[in-house]
Amino acid sequence: ATVRQQAHTGSLPPDPVVRELVAEAHSRYSDHSQGAIADYIPILAKADPAWFGVSLVAVDGRTYDMGDTEIAFSIQSISKAFVFALVAEALGHEQIRERVGVNNTGLPFNSVIAIELNDGSPFNSMVNAGALATTALMPGETCVEKWEAIRTGLSRFAGRALELDGDVYRSEARSNFRNRAIALLLQSYGRLDHDPLAIVDVYTRQCSLSVTATDLAVMGATLADGGVNPVTGERVVSEDVARDTLALLASTGLYENSGAWLFEIGMPAKSGVSGGIVAIAPGKGAVGTFSAPLDPAGNSIRGQRACAYLSRTLGLNLF
Ligand code: DON
Repeated sequence: ATVRQQAHTGSLPPDPVVRELVAEAHSRYSDHSQGAIADYIPILAKADPAWFGVSLVAVDGRTYDMGDTEIAFSIQSISKAFVFALVAEALGHEQIRERVGVNNTGLPFNSVIAIELNDGSPFNSMVNAGALATTALMPGETCVEKWEAIRTGLSRFAGRALELDGDVYRSEARSNFRNRAIALLLQSYGRLDHDPLAIVDVYTRQCSLSVTATDLAVMGATLADGGVNPVTGERVVSEDVARDTLALLASTGLYENSGAWLFEIGMPAKSGVSGGIVAIAPGKGAVGTFSAPLDPAGNSIRGQRACAYLSRTLGLNLF
């Protein structure tokens, strides 16, 4: 009850309490064995199902790590949240709303039907169609410039220079037929600037950036902190953009499961198919988790459970 009362005060409980709860969020679900590791990007199937890391970073920069928080994995769809923030920072709220959209599709992340049924709308920056449209809006004349702006921008969120995982990039680049089809379909509707296949390449690179659970927590904590990275002290995006990003994540971050997630956990979040989740408590901090086995919508099962536990015990639910 003491912890629950802190839900809207903007502060986390004292240090030892947070440390113990993060440790408990990890140990409770360590033995869990449900879920399937993604294999449509062949190299992802090599992940060890036992890897499990939980990290929490507070808006004052305090960091709590438990388990495999140093194992690097490709960021995948979680990149979409931060590329959205960079584009919103460069172009503004209205442009994103008009040119990409901000509503949930209610369909899987790589749905083609969603585009077809809605006159070529890419829908929102968190599904693949909208993410491709958003990457195309990144500042930079050429795709080389766009990619560089994404890599450096996401690095500022993480507070360290993020690197491309070349093996993941090549594995996805050889197998991403569906994303190429989506990009060409968007082009046919006049909804994608630039060469569609070159944009798919930039998008594939952004998804192949290598991160840890701790990196995800720092990136999320930057949004929780109104756009300032709490570890480096650098402002990465404006307060308005941080708020817009969290609003979008609340409604679309876990794809067609976003409503159920918000109902149970009450935190804006983003998942990726390699097993990462970042969940944000505005004004307080963020949780980053990594565990490869996924539910049918493509969301890490252990990660969801660990976030639910921390939301409940630390009073992170927004509502
Ligand atoms: O485009 C893809 O399919 C992957 N690069 C990313 C998908 C993803 O992470 C979906 N998340 N749950």
